[in-house]
Amino acid sequence: MNVMKIHILSSTDRSGSNALKVSKYAKGVMSKSSDVEIFSLEDYPLHDVVGGKYGKEIESVKSFNDQFLSADGFLFVIPEYNGGFPGILKVFYDYLPFPKAFQRVPVSLIGEAAGAFGALRPVEQFAQLLSYRNAHIFPDSMYIQRVNDSFDPEDGLKSEKLQKLLLRQLNDFTDFVRKLSEI
Ligand SMILES: Cc1cc2nc3c(=O)[nH]c(=O)nc-3n(C[C@H](O)[C@H](O)[C@H](O)COP(=O)(O)O)c2cc1C
Repeated sequence: MNVMKIHILSSTDRSGSNALKVSKYAKGVMSKSSDVEIFSLEDYPLHDVVGGKYGKEIESVKSFNDQFLSADGFLFVIPEYNGGFPGILKVFYDYLPFPKAFQRVPVSLIGEAAGAFGALRPVEQFAQLLSYRNAHIFPDSMYIQRVNDSFDPEDGLKSEKLQKLLLRQLNDFTDFVRKLSEI
């Protein structure tokens, strides 16, 4: 059986982010069955796109995108900033190859926020952008609310019930990626 390659995007450039902590936890779980790598928007070459370089080939951006896109499936870990997803995630998205990136590709989403809605809004917003690119969006998404209290970087979610859902999402997504690759 082929080992599936899954890339996780920690979808903010904020240093010390919860998104990166959740991404590392998710990697630990999915690595039992898949080859998993984390990318962080902290490493996105933002300075190279200042001034609006849309449609131009920028070596640093191409390199980031090519490395990130070379997987069978993708997990985005998305924080909530002002009722939406971080601006850098939209910048990243707008510099992806069009229309190729994410066409018919499996994508899973996790939200995390300090507030009570667990980044439901940014995840739903980003899912719309993925639908526009015809991604296969995995139907189960975790919305980690009150992340600073509810999540432990080593053990995951403190609520047993929610932890079960998180593990189910991560494990079922790896099966989803494999099944789609066989079609
Ligand atoms: C610019 C900014 C805006 C934020 N806006 C919201 C918000 O609208 N709703 C919310 O629940 N939390 C909000 N927060 C708190 C973050 O969701 C919370 O700190 C989250 O864990 C940050 O993710 P990160 O550590 O991955 O950057 C905001 C944080 C920042 C930095």
